[in-house]
Amino acid sequence: MSEFRITRTLPEDAMAAALRADVRNGLTSDPKTLPPKWFYDARGSELFEQITELPEYYPTRAEREILAGRAAEIAAALPARTLVELGSGSSEKTRHLIDALPRLHTYIPVDVSDTALEQAGRALVAERPGLSVHALIADFTAALTLPHSPGPRLLAFLGGTIGNLLPGERAEFLASVRALLSPGDALLLGTDLVKAEEVLVRAYDDAAGVTAAFNKNVLSVVNRELGADFEPDAFDHVALWDATNEWIEMRLRSRTTQTVKVPALDLAVHFAAGEELRTEVSAKFREDGVSAELAAAGLGLERWWTDGEERFALSLSVAR
Ligand code: SAH
Ligand code: AVI
Repeated sequence: MSEFRITRTLPEDAMAAALRADVRNGLTSDPKTLPPKWFYDARGSELFEQITELPEYYPTRAEREILAGRAAEIAAALPARTLVELGSGSSEKTRHLIDALPRLHTYIPVDVSDTALEQAGRALVAERPGLSVHALIADFTAALTLPHSPGPRLLAFLGGTIGNLLPGERAEFLASVRALLSPGDALLLGTDLVKAEEVLVRAYDDAAGVTAAFNKNVLSVVNRELGADFEPDAFDHVALWDATNEWIEMRLRSRTTQTVKVPALDLAVHFAAGEELRTEVSAKFREDGVSAELAAAGLGLERWWTDGEERFALSLSVAR
């Protein structure tokens, strides 16, 4: 029998407190920032799904190509009984993996978006008889405790979402991933690769303006949750390539001089005309760098697969 359970590991008031702290810290620092995890309310998750279908946004298609072609090899290398997925979203590409793992008993999708987890989890148990799905509403950058389930364990972190963490956060994150694994368990990691600047910038500044709407959605989240009076259209969407750090940066640029009130924090935030608020970095990788970051966390890179155009990589690394 299939089973679907959804557990909130962070109580709603702790999530609300985390948002308040992030907004206070981010909007009072210089330059101003907001962390990307707050994009993903129901509308943000829906906008992200639309992004994955844009002609300019290649990462989802490239990663799906690798997963579809390599799922059997991945399953042979690690015949997992438990598949954990961090930042699982719609779990759409993960179906290739689930179908290739004959001994799979439990799938544990972990996400901050309860709406994405509900939709994906219910669809999966309906489609896959015998699969146990235990969804966790949780922040993957905080300490995670996973439910008991049989090993071996494969932990997937797809989509290139690791690139949305800053380098220090990545090192801390990979160490915490390693702590969730036993020796012989594995991490399947999706990383977008360094490529021509114009291809990258187009992927984050699409002609239809879906990425701009996704970027501005974080302002609507702060308005709804903290009573702020951001006017999303008073900001322009900006996507630029930082060649030194090898990451795309998304920003919101204030069109005018304006003051935004955030009543729940008793805060008034002044923006100069042209001032930019950083909302996301999306780092792009090379094989050497990925291998070194994994090794520093006690994970040995064993396999490296790319799509036919070498735009995106999936790597399999084993816990030592
Ligand atoms: N893995 C999917 C979705 C990627 S979008 C894919 O490849 O298409 C990034 C996902 O990570 C979103 O569903 C978002 O809600 C989730 N997410 C972002 N930051 C998170 C965090 N700190 N903790 C848990 N989930 C997070
Ligand atoms: C989820 N993450 C990997 C996406 C990315 O490409 O960095 C989020 C995104 N931001 C803008 N478009 C998509």
